[in-house]
Amino acid sequence: MWSVSEHSFSRAAISENHARALGSRGFYAHICRHVNFCYLPPVAPKKRVAVIAGDGVGKEVIPQAVKALEASGAPLDLTYFDWGADRYLADGTTVPPDGFAMLGREFDAILLGAFGDPRVPSNIHAKEILLGMRFKMDLYANVRPVRLLDASLCPLKGIEPKDVDFVVFRENTEGVYTDAGGVFKQGTADEVAIQEDINTRKGVERIIRYAFEFAVHNKKTDGRQLGRVLMCDKSNAMTHAGGLWQRVFKTVGAEYPQIKSEHMYVDALCMQLVRDPRPFDVIVTNNMFGDIITDVAAALQGGLGMAASGNIHPGKTSMFEPVHGSAPPLAGKNVANPMGAMLTSAMMLAHLGFADAARKIEAAVLEAVRQKKTTQDVGGSLGTKEVGEWIAKQVA
Ligand code: IPM
Ligand code: MN
Repeated sequence: MWSVSEHSFSRAAISENHARALGSRGFYAHICRHVNFCYLPPVAPKKRVAVIAGDGVGKEVIPQAVKALEASGAPLDLTYFDWGADRYLADGTTVPPDGFAMLGREFDAILLGAFGDPRVPSNIHAKEILLGMRFKMDLYANVRPVRLLDASLCPLKGIEPKDVDFVVFRENTEGVYTDAGGVFKQGTADEVAIQEDINTRKGVERIIRYAFEFAVHNKKTDGRQLGRVLMCDKSNAMTHAGGLWQRVFKTVGAEYPQIKSEHMYVDALCMQLVRDPRPFDVIVTNNMFGDIITDVAAALQGGLGMAASGNIHPGKTSMFEPVHGSAPPLAGKNVANPMGAMLTSAMMLAHLGFADAARKIEAAVLEAVRQKKTTQDVGGSLGTKEVGEWIAKQVA
């Protein structure tokens, strides 16, 4: 049941028609004029979610996230896809033809696990599925909340949950991740490798604006208003790209006088994050710096196993994935921490408009941390499945 491929489209198609029928009041209204009894089903159309567990520990943590989603009672219609290393090794498919367009058309959100498998040393499937999805579906905002749930999880001394509560907005469709460049004279003493850093005004502006909008409309967990947006770059060395980021940040920031605009070079920011994470509210940065900073930030909240993320384009089908990778050495051992994936599923629920269901999952994860119903990486002694089941039970 777990690895159904895209043959399950018909299910999605049926539910789409069903949703349309429920939503189309015209037909019922017409009937109602002719009969003195009218029944409109009080059921909200279900949100359609594509679930792609992927490789390695993705296959273990995503089923736990699904348990939490099901326990939350949110009206979802889940469809499973087998994209990943097994499928690639079996028939050479990374992304089936029309795959991304189909996801955009037929689904409201995508829940993704992780990609990477030692049997595919080129990592081609991971690149085409994960980075392909981010780029081709134009999911430009990689939103990575950094929240410490319990003081015991933070490696820093004297730091409490209220001290680590910020969000990183990572540009997700440009930068060095476009992989533009090439290699000349490969294998010779004169070999040249060029890796381009692509930054467009449109791309830089939309992620910076997204960060400011988030700051205006959101609060910290304890209710404090977000008051500052910090842009991180390396404009002292990478002057062309950094210059564009600086100019756009200044222009967009001026539209939000209530929010303080701040700046740090990426090296200084990494140092500051581990020295004192308290002053941060919202951080906005490019694709690669965002990748690096969010691993550092994950450590502040208990490691990669705790970190959640969303890959978002407002109004389009967005994708949600834990920050961690497929972790091949841990795969198949029932030791991976499912909390990052479960918190990711909560992010997805909030995005789909089910804020109460999302809060239930977050509260259950918090309770599991407090009661040490956790995997070993965060101090407990339970397995992946046992943590997932404990949390799902709390949610229900
Ligand atoms: C992440 C990962 C990916 C990235 C890898 C797997 C390409 O590290 O989501 O942070 O660099 O974006
Ligand atoms: Mn990363």
